[in-house]
Amino acid sequence: MTFRNEVEQAIVTRRTIKRFKDEAVDLEEIIELLEVAKWAPNHKLTEPWRFIAFEGSGKDRFVEAFWKTERDAKGELSELSKRKGEYYRNIPLHLVVVMPEDPRQRTWDEDYGAVSAMIQNFQLAAWARGIGMVWRTNNYIYDPVFREAIGVQRGEKIVATLMIGYAEHIPEPKERTSIREKLTVVSD
Ligand SMILES: Cc1cc2nc3c(=O)[nH]c(=O)nc-3n(C[C@H](O)[C@H](O)[C@H](O)COP(=O)(O)O)c2cc1C
Repeated sequence: MTFRNEVEQAIVTRRTIKRFKDEAVDLEEIIELLEVAKWAPNHKLTEPWRFIAFEGSGKDRFVEAFWKTERDAKGELSELSKRKGEYYRNIPLHLVVVMPEDPRQRTWDEDYGAVSAMIQNFQLAAWARGIGMVWRTNNYIYDPVFREAIGVQRGEKIVATLMIGYAEHIPEPKERTSIREKLTVVSD
């Protein structure tokens, strides 16, 4: 596939990354990228986002919050939960993206649209600098125990936990359907 410019190239070649090098990501660079990403379209410019970054030993807080949601009645963790927690701990940086939950449906929709556009801007800008990530929406983001443990308030929604780093492995693209199959043309 040929691209007319770098924007098209970044959009098409970006992949969700789940395996990362053991190399720290500079939080200042992430902030720089978010400063770019914030130019997403946003009706009424409410800028309906805030972020919680977990780096270094701060990631233990994230993992502990996750494990809190996984413990059984005796407080034990399954082997799978332990492994998942360790995997999260080893990812260089976690960025939780939070939006207000406005009770008005229209505003909620517009805010979710703006935050999603902002996240995709961020993914693309990061990708163009060689930084990869996975946008995760696991069950625990809806769990009050997790939310409270990481400082998300009532009336806020976690839109994504972004797990960020330099790619150890770039997966093959998953095919997309031709737009012609999705397009209805009304000409007259
Ligand atoms: C709203 C949203 C939620 C997602 N949640 C998850 C998730 O929980 N776990 C995951 O592995 N990937 C998640 N993804 C990433 C998709 O699985 C990924 O984009 C898709 O498989 C296509 O791969 P690509 O991004 O490499 O093209 C999410 C993506 C979006 C937009």
